[in-house]
Amino acid sequence: MCGIVAYLGEQPALPILIEGLKRLEYRGYDSAGVALLNGGLKVVKSVGRVSVLEEKLKQTPDLCGTVGIAHTRWATHGSVTELNAHPHSDDQHRFVLVHNGIIENYSTLKKVLEERGRVFETETDTEVLVTLIAELYEGDLEKAVQAAAREVTGAYAIVCCCADEPGVLVAARKGSPLMVGIGADEFVVASDPSAIVAHTSRAFALDDYNVCRIDKTGFRTSTIDNHEVSPKVMELELELEETELGGFDHYMQKEIFEQPRVIRNTLRGRLDHKEGRIVLGGLTEISKELVKARRFILTAQGTALHSAMIGEYLLEDLAKVPAECEYASEFRYRNPIIEENTIVIAVSQSGETADTLSALHEARDRGATSLGVVNVVGSSITRDTDAGVYLRVGPEIGVASTKAFLGQVAVLTMIAIHTGRRRFMSPDECATLLRELDQIPDKIERILQTAEAVKRVTEQHIHKENWLFLGRGYNYPVAMEGALKLKEISYIHAEGMPAAEMKHGPIALINDGMPVVFLANRGRQYDKVLSNIAETRSRGGHVIAVATEGDTHIESVADEVLWVPDCPEPLSPLLTVVPLQLMAYYAAVARGHDVDKPRNLAKSVTVE
Ligand code: G6P
Repeated sequence: MCGIVAYLGEQPALPILIEGLKRLEYRGYDSAGVALLNGGLKVVKSVGRVSVLEEKLKQTPDLCGTVGIAHTRWATHGSVTELNAHPHSDDQHRFVLVHNGIIENYSTLKKVLEERGRVFETETDTEVLVTLIAELYEGDLEKAVQAAAREVTGAYAIVCCCADEPGVLVAARKGSPLMVGIGADEFVVASDPSAIVAHTSRAFALDDYNVCRIDKTGFRTSTIDNHEVSPKVMELELELEETELGGFDHYMQKEIFEQPRVIRNTLRGRLDHKEGRIVLGGLTEISKELVKARRFILTAQGTALHSAMIGEYLLEDLAKVPAECEYASEFRYRNPIIEENTIVIAVSQSGETADTLSALHEARDRGATSLGVVNVVGSSITRDTDAGVYLRVGPEIGVASTKAFLGQVAVLTMIAIHTGRRRFMSPDECATLLRELDQIPDKIERILQTAEAVKRVTEQHIHKENWLFLGRGYNYPVAMEGALKLKEISYIHAEGMPAAEMKHGPIALINDGMPVVFLANRGRQYDKVLSNIAETRSRGGHVIAVATEGDTHIESVADEVLWVPDCPEPLSPLLTVVPLQLMAYYAAVARGHDVDKPRNLAKSVTVE
């Protein structure tokens, strides 16, 4: 969603801020802006891409200074206009602020501030916050931010500066990520490490209700009640090249094609073939709880929900523990019943999704043991869970998640095998699964070699506006994911569902040539899927089947076949999803869409 970059140092701030904004573009936004402190405050904003802002900046040549803040906005309060874009100022133009998140009590605060004579020119919650800071200012920006933070409810990551203290930046956070990068004689504050790594790899994440004051001489972190705290400075592991295209046309394409390598990385050192067991250091803290577990609840949003749904099947099948999966946004508000020995698994690429984080807090408060399956190291979910396993797939820049999905499924597979092995699974049974798991990256590679064929099949149908994706068992969530990928970036309407459900309504939609994608790989329900294929074809549907290599029968019943190598059924989602990712990618490219910046979507949804 929104992105923040701020700079304080010896160099001209503007190019650094613009470069930082570009690195945050992938998160999704609709407008952008910068403010520089140089004597007074200068603010330039525009609607649309960062490149539009750059053009506008060329017409403002006197914009210089070594302290500044910048923002990409994703509209929440107020429409997409230049006026509503950040940075926002108070009515006397002494303070500027960039803000991610939502201030929930902004209308109450606004009324009070208006009664005190403050004037507002936008409908945004952010303008209320900067005005509140201005109102509370008594010559010390850090204290004013602390005081304002004590009055607001909701979520925020902010960076503020003030014309009266030109060499100072003050940042604060509650519920929305913010990092401070510490360079040589410079600081870069950003909502995402990808905007920091070009300058320094030393950084710390601000904790909730913490404030950080930065000037040329250093920084000070404190709580909003002004108790000094020492942040945990770490080395960012992110390499700059990992955030670059490296010869591919799009990040999504790059991330699909690097899946064999990243999944090898996910598995590396975690499969102990000799002893027939899984080694997951992050689970040590809860190893007793895993043995005693009587129920798993998996919770997530978006693509992560689909991998969590696969996790539900895996945990019941391989660990023999009852498991259920639920949208985090629903789970947290339905007064969930958490019995003794319940383990809640929060699945998330970013580790910052607001609903997932809140669901996790809800479950934890009700006594559940919490476990995170997360990609971004040090993110909020990883800090708020009892234990966790990282995906190790590297930064995912493409808004439509691909490699993180595979990483999540691979990790959930390992957690299920590990739990099963701790409870009843024999070393031999485990060793067989591990051998198969080890071969998955090579098999993904084989599927990627068929990319041209997937492209050809896809391009024939891109003029069709309605698609169905159907699967059973492990491949029902894969069907959901295939449909989600297609709609996210190609804007084709697609539905994913259990293949059997088709007969209960959606079959009415099937007409001449409607593309219906079946997950028809070999498995327990293969014959049933064949019946669903026959029903679809007899109504004129155009069947594209994802099938197991060597299946000679499928070619006679499907219109087109996309091939995947054979593997044990519990591992099949790691393969069957790959052709669907390629399909979505090629459909979007053929329809002329900006694959990495799909309309209206944000990479990470940090508000409810
Ligand atoms: C957004 C993204 C999706 C992602 C979902 C959950 O909607 O566009 O790609 O799956 O958030 O994100 P998370 O970071 O929790 O996996």
